[in-house]
Amino acid sequence: MKLLILLLPSLFLTANGCLRVRWMDKCSPTDPAIYLFAYSNDVNYSYVRSSREFLDPTIKRLPTRFVKTATVRFDIKTKEDIVFHDGDTFVDSYTAAHKHMDQQEVEPSQSFDSIETGSDVLDMLERFINTNRPNICGSFALIHMKRCPNEVEISKIVEKLRAYHIQLSLAVVHPSSGGLHPETLYDLAAKTNGFCTFSNDQDADSVVPHAIWPNLHYSLNLRVSGTGKMVLPSLTLPKQLYMPPQMFVGVQRTAPTIIGCHIKMSKCF
Ligand SMILES: *[C@@H]1O[C@H](CO)[C@@H](O)[C@H](O)[C@H]1NC(C)=O
Repeated sequence: MKLLILLLPSLFLTANGCLRVRWMDKCSPTDPAIYLFAYSNDVNYSYVRSSREFLDPTIKRLPTRFVKTATVRFDIKTKEDIVFHDGDTFVDSYTAAHKHMDQQEVEPSQSFDSIETGSDVLDMLERFINTNRPNICGSFALIHMKRCPNEVEISKIVEKLRAYHIQLSLAVVHPSSGGLHPETLYDLAAKTNGFCTFSNDQDADSVVPHAIWPNLHYSLNLRVSGTGKMVLPSLTLPKQLYMPPQMFVGVQRTAPTIIGCHIKMSKCF
C-alpha cells in the first residue's frame, strides 16, 4: 500500500485508458551544471587555444550557473576518459581544465588512420552522460570537430541528450578530416536545440555560441532555394542581455556541403 502511494504522482491514465509513467524532469534551467570542452584529435590545436583568449576574461567575469569544467579529446585510437577538473570555484576548475588541455594538445600520430573512419563524437557524448556525475543535467558542451560521424540514425543519443537537457555547440572545421556524414552534426544540433556551424579553422569557434551567449533564443530550420522572400515569426529577446545581441545564422547549401555564417547585429533589439 505504501509503495502504491509513493508511485501515485508519476502514474497517469491517458485518454485511451492506458497507464503511462511520467518521469520527473532531471533538472531545471537554473540548476548548477558542467561546462564540457571536447575536441577532436584532428583539429589544429592552435585555434582551440587562441579562441580562449577571447573566452577566458569573459567567462571569469560573468555570473554563471556552471560549477565545474570537464574536458575530453576524442577521435583518438586509444579512447580517453572524460576528465572532471576539481576546484573550489568554477574559475578554478576552468583554469585547471585549460592547463590540462594545453599540456595535452593533440597527438597526430594517434589520429584514426583512414579518412573513412567516422568521428566517435556520439560515443563521447554518451560516455559523458553515462559518467553519472552530479550536475551532468543541463550541461553545455563546446565541441571542436574536424571529422564527421558515419552514423545517420541518431534517435537514441538525441533522446538521451534531450532528457538531460544538454546543449551542444558544434564548431566544425571544413574541410573535414574524414567521416561520411556532416549533416548528422547539423541534425544533432537541430534536434537538441543546439548550434552547429561549418567554417574554416580560424572561424570555427567564433561562430558558435559558447559561455558568453549560451542560450538559444530563436530556432527555425527552413528549406530555401532560388530567390524570394519569407516572413519569419517575430523574434523576441529578453530585455537584459550582457552583450549586444549577436545573431547566428546557419545556411546549408546542398548537403553535405554546409556553410556557417555569422551576422553581427549593430543595433540592440
Ligand atoms: C595550425 O595553424 C597554425 C596557425 O595558422 C599554423 O601555423 C600551423 O602550421 C598549423 N598546424 C598544422 C599542423 O596544420
